[in-house]
Amino acid sequence: MLKVGVIGATGYTGEEVVRILAGHKDVRITVLQAVIEKEEPISSIFPSLKGKVDLVCEKPNTEIAIKEADLIFLALPHTVSMKLAPKFLNAGKRVIDLSADYRLDVKEYEKWYGTKHTDPANIEKAVYGMPELFRDKVKKANFIANPGCYPTSVILSVAPLLEKGLIHSDHIICDSKSGITGAGRSPGWNLENPNIKGNFKAYKALKHQHSPEMEHILSKVSKKKVGVAFVPHLLPLERGILSTIYMKTREKLTYEKIAKVYEEKYKDCPFVRIKEKGEFPQLKEVAFTNFFDVGFAVDTAGKLIVAVAAIDNLLKGAAGQAVQNMNVMYGFDEGEGLL
Ligand SMILES: NC(=O)c1ccc[n+]([C@@H]2O[C@H](COP(=O)([O-])OP(=O)(O)OC[C@H]3O[C@@H](n4cnc5c(N)ncnc54)[C@H](OP(=O)(O)O)[C@@H]3O)[C@@H](O)[C@H]2O)c1
Repeated sequence: MLKVGVIGATGYTGEEVVRILAGHKDVRITVLQAVIEKEEPISSIFPSLKGKVDLVCEKPNTEIAIKEADLIFLALPHTVSMKLAPKFLNAGKRVIDLSADYRLDVKEYEKWYGTKHTDPANIEKAVYGMPELFRDKVKKANFIANPGCYPTSVILSVAPLLEKGLIHSDHIICDSKSGITGAGRSPGWNLENPNIKGNFKAYKALKHQHSPEMEHILSKVSKKKVGVAFVPHLLPLERGILSTIYMKTREKLTYEKIAKVYEEKYKDCPFVRIKEKGEFPQLKEVAFTNFFDVGFAVDTAGKLIVAVAAIDNLLKGAAGQAVQNMNVMYGFDEGEGLL
């Protein structure tokens, strides 16, 4: 049995990681930690876990985590993970980090997150944890930088067409809509909040910190400089991300040709579902699942493709993908605990 620890267990993503691992046949949860007033069973903090996980959630203590666990999930705010990850890696532990601290190169990170990176040496060692595109690297990884939620929905939609050189790489337009859990758990940030209730708004247009992550990874995939114009929107919903991506083709393309490219690329991927012609994903169909659903259309001239993708930001966008990476790292069934 693999011994696993979750640091940041009381957050939105930490709670989901604990919930999934509780039903995973190959692992045992041995460490739960978070910044808490009183140490108590996690099932007292999340009653839905009663009878599944009754382990005490402790205050942060790296020594105990190193002693008790083989693999550590860091479900922490960015800038916090980079303080803890090197301690676990230096102790020979394997780490899956859900924050953004190791997804970008140091220059991009400091520019977009506005803070000095305190552990640049481990950025190179981190593998971008998207099994659909980098499964072989994930298999051998000791350290995973788990992708962001918006980037997961966009990168999986665009990569197959970019890889085949079928679309222009300099002008990919993307608008995404996310539920409120995308911003983490904080007091007053709920559906009754007057800024959220009955409201729908764009924010950080062309200035969101997930844009460089999309460009960084898509440039790696296509071996060309990629430009993404990204506009996020906030939905008055708990969870889910729906991304609509507009791509200009480099040649006249038919629906059938595009469908073949997606099917070929994702044929061995248990969590990718491609919609039938004329059908598009819905948030209700991916909520509480680790699925990435995609549908697309092409204009009559075969010059413009619109892809629509849906994921659950807390699962395929975070905790589910993190456990999927663990399954690939340890040779467990890729769908274990997730299907
Ligand atoms: N939410 C999403 O949809 C999503 C998707 C992809 C990636 N992510 C990333 O995943 C990370 C976690 O996100 P989240 O939404 O779960 O955030 P969150 O709800 O704010 O949870 C953060 C957790 O970290 C704990 N924490 C903070 N500082 C700590 C420290 N020094 N030591 C130990 N625990 C500490 C917090 O404890 P207290 O609450 O008790 O302070 C809380 O349990 C973030 O980096 C986020 O960007 C989130």
